[in-house]
Amino acid sequence: MKVLVTGGAGFIGSHITDLLLEQGYEVIVIDNLSSGSLKNLHRDVVLYQTDILSQEAEKIIKAEKPDYLIHTAAQISIAKSIESPTDDANINIIGTMKILDYAKKYGIKKFIFSSSCAVYGETGDINIPINHKLDPLSFYGASKLSSELYIQLYCKFYQLPYTILRYSNVYGPRQSTQGEGGVVNIFTNCYLSEKRPIIYGDGEQTRDFIFVKDVAMANLAALQKGNNKIFNIGTGHKTSINKLTEMLKVHVPEKLTPEYTPAVGGDIRFSCLNIEDTIKDLNWRPAWSMKEGLEETFTYYQMEMKGDENG
Ligand SMILES: NC(=O)c1ccc[n+]([C@@H]2O[C@H](COP(=O)([O-])OP(=O)(O)OC[C@H]3O[C@@H](n4cnc5c(N)ncnc54)[C@H](O)[C@@H]3O)[C@@H](O)[C@H]2O)c1
Repeated sequence: MKVLVTGGAGFIGSHITDLLLEQGYEVIVIDNLSSGSLKNLHRDVVLYQTDILSQEAEKIIKAEKPDYLIHTAAQISIAKSIESPTDDANINIIGTMKILDYAKKYGIKKFIFSSSCAVYGETGDINIPINHKLDPLSFYGASKLSSELYIQLYCKFYQLPYTILRYSNVYGPRQSTQGEGGVVNIFTNCYLSEKRPIIYGDGEQTRDFIFVKDVAMANLAALQKGNNKIFNIGTGHKTSINKLTEMLKVHVPEKLTPEYTPAVGGDIRFSCLNIEDTIKDLNWRPAWSMKEGLEETFTYYQMEMKGDENG
């Protein structure tokens, strides 16, 4: 079985490709390396370095005839989406539509999409159920929601099966310091370089932090299950930013206290996903505790830093 992963050189995409290879799938990747890196890619992956918006992308899908398509390539920054909504829409909506068109045209068995909890907007301090009202607060959230609607219509009109996965805040090795889920990475790197992390607001805002290897497992589960459904991919547990700094600090000898600065407007106060339907219908649940995930993340960045020091 051959799987095409768009954005496979990125943070989440590269963990998906690693797991696919481990489980015996043949993997091809389309990535323009705008935020991804060759360093992330397993040597057995075939990389096509091109843009999902290019004509080349169609030629690749036509020639390679993958069985499944996992679409992770995207513009992932909320701030950039607000600076330039059209650029965001071009990559996230038009890019997704083009990939959907090729999936339909070249007989892909299933389309799996990386969506985001940004489609919900401000929800209050609850575990957000999958049928919660959708009210994105950014163009990024709006472009993810639009893509979800197009995917559902491609299924309705052209019988293209799909699974949509709405991730909470993903963390782990290979994450860049940009994007919506980078706080674990940013704080880890602060502590490793003996700098105080900066917390916006009082630090009591919460997030549902999910380890990237669990997200990769959810994508693999979606190859077999959860046809034409949308799932929340998180842990169902909330962690405050203050608690996160406490958990990270145990890894560094010097106890650096965070620096507090006024909250940024538009920052969501609470975010935590209800995953009961995911456990039941996708037969997936997170396997990594936050303590284990943070340990692995910390070790990864420690090694990276040593590598950089040694040139
Ligand atoms: N990281 C999170 O916490 C999080 C949370 C919710 C949803 N998501 C979604 O998960 C997906 C993966 O995110 P990530 O955190 O791994 O980001 P990432 O930036 O590491 O990965 C995105 C990949 O897509 C590639 N790419 C971007 N635009 C492209 C284009 N036009 N053509 C070809 N390749 C292109 C990039 O080079 C990169 O390798 C995205 O769709 C993102 O919106 C991420």
